[in-house]
Amino acid sequence: MFNADMQYRYMGKSGLRLSALSLGGWTTYGASVKDEDTVESIIKHAYSAGVNFFDISDIYEKGEAEKAMGRVFKELPRHELVISTKVFWPMSEDVNDTGLSRKHIFESIEKSLKRIGTDYVDIYFCHRPDPNTPAEETACAMSDLIRQGKVLYWGTSEHSAAQIHAASTAAKEWYAYPPRVEQPQLSLVARHRYHTEVQPAIEELGMGVVTWSPLASGLLSGKYDDGLPEGARLWRSENLRNSYLTEDNKQRVKKFKTLADEVGVTRAQLAIAWCLAQKGVSSVITGATKLEQLKHNLEALKVQITPEVSKRIDEIFPPTMGKK
Ligand SMILES: NC(=O)c1ccc[n+]([C@@H]2O[C@H](COP(=O)([O-])OP(=O)(O)OC[C@H]3O[C@@H](n4cnc5c(N)ncnc54)[C@H](OP(=O)(O)O)[C@@H]3O)[C@@H](O)[C@H]2O)c1
Repeated sequence: MFNADMQYRYMGKSGLRLSALSLGGWTTYGASVKDEDTVESIIKHAYSAGVNFFDISDIYEKGEAEKAMGRVFKELPRHELVISTKVFWPMSEDVNDTGLSRKHIFESIEKSLKRIGTDYVDIYFCHRPDPNTPAEETACAMSDLIRQGKVLYWGTSEHSAAQIHAASTAAKEWYAYPPRVEQPQLSLVARHRYHTEVQPAIEELGMGVVTWSPLASGLLSGKYDDGLPEGARLWRSENLRNSYLTEDNKQRVKKFKTLADEVGVTRAQLAIAWCLAQKGVSSVITGATKLEQLKHNLEALKVQITPEVSKRIDEIFPPTMGKK
């Protein structure tokens, strides 16, 4: 795939190129967005705009996101797509249907491939670290899937610097393929861990980074300035509402509007452009429940974060945002 309006970035020191903006299916496709025509129109528009990277997980609506997105992928040229899915969270009560054991990884990939309707996934993520499985067991299982051609690259998600290093070291010691990409959270309200921990680790290891929730589940678009729009994500999820919709965040998001107005873009576009401008980022995984949101967010590619804008952003959302 090549589209002159899209940027393509190498996934760290690997030879794989990802569209700088990508699209994920968490809480949306097969979940809040069940209508197949809507899913199709969003994914096909993303593809036509040059998006090649699509992110899913087995746990997203317990396999329904993989099915909903896979239905659309079948109508697109498979070789042009970079499809990722993930393993870790329990999919049933079975004691072995969880974690990063060799057994769970081997059995999960088969189910994911079937649901997506593909022979391989381009990237297979360990969705979270598993303290109960030795790093070498996971690294060797992932590496064996690569040798079988069911997975092309493997990665980690929400791993600490020490866990990323442990995964990489275990792979090297066991002559296995190392993880090539980390998937951390990164947004203006959740940035501290990325700057202080994730980015230095991935730079040292030559890994790529694909980041999640650039709008903090929609908060940074300003849609919650005057209350909770019915049907929106923070209206639907009490957990997400409690973690994002704090009085402090609301005040900062209002101040952010003044800056976005001065730059001549929307807050959603500025927030996504800021993620794109962060050191080490290979791709920013966006989310959209409506085609208009996707179209709007893709415009972030045209926004330049000048040093002056970056400084103003740091004043509103300091680098400590998200520090626990
Ligand atoms: N590895 C992990 O642990 C992990 C965790 C979370 C996510 N992810 C990945 O990252 C992807 C993106 O995360 P995300 O969906 O949380 O991204 P996000 O950009 O923070 O939130 C997207 C949501 O915000 C709303 N929205 C998007 N654009 C908007 C706009 N222009 N104006 C107003 N509202 C807008 C929509 O929700 P509503 O319309 O429903 O309000 C949309 O579904 C996920 O799909 C998943 O692939 C990974």
